[in-house]
Amino acid sequence: MANELRIGDKVITLERGDIRTVEADAIVNAANSSLMGGGGVDGAIPRAGGDTILEECKKYVDEHGRLDPGRAMLTHGGDLPVEFVIHTVGPKWLGGMADEAQTLSSAYLESLRVADHFCLETVAFPSISTGAFGYPKEQAAPVALETIRKFLAEAECVRHVKLVLYDMRTYETYANALDHLVM
Ligand code: APR
Repeated sequence: MANELRIGDKVITLERGDIRTVEADAIVNAANSSLMGGGGVDGAIPRAGGDTILEECKKYVDEHGRLDPGRAMLTHGGDLPVEFVIHTVGPKWLGGMADEAQTLSSAYLESLRVADHFCLETVAFPSISTGAFGYPKEQAAPVALETIRKFLAEAECVRHVKLVLYDMRTYETYANALDHLVM
């Protein structure tokens, strides 16, 4: 099974691990619209990064309102080893009839646009929406990979997108989807 896909001089890589300890310019948080923190990735990131992350999120919500599903915003990384955290909200899985794929694709795309806007080179994503939000991993993986591949073909600054998968089953699901993308 493949663990990387090259697109010209850019690359998508898959790795097993914890998004909090990955080397990147930014990591992406699987947030919810309140930007107040939560469980899963959205609990782990503020716990490791300290109070400033949620303080910046609160300021954003005070100024702009809640972050709709499919959108993204940026904070500093606080005590994390990365300079920035990009917060995005994936869709809740409602059976596949509520444009979940489009919203999931938008969550990746908007996060990558934010990264390119700030001219970041390396961005690391967890598997958005496939935990508490219940999106089936087998359906989420091709949406994520295809969206990232298309974006990288046109990106100005982003050169390396890492997918950091927490457990073996999720890793294998993405590796399988990457094989199909390569073919
Ligand atoms: N590093 C990488 N991946 C992780 C980590 C971690 N530290 N912790 C959990 N994961 C994995 C989960 O195993 C899952 O595959 O990230 C994936 C996404 O799971 P969630 O964090 O539950 O994210 P999501 O499905 O998008 O749900 C978002 O959960 O608590 C919240 O506030 C959050 O309401 C929002 C919802």
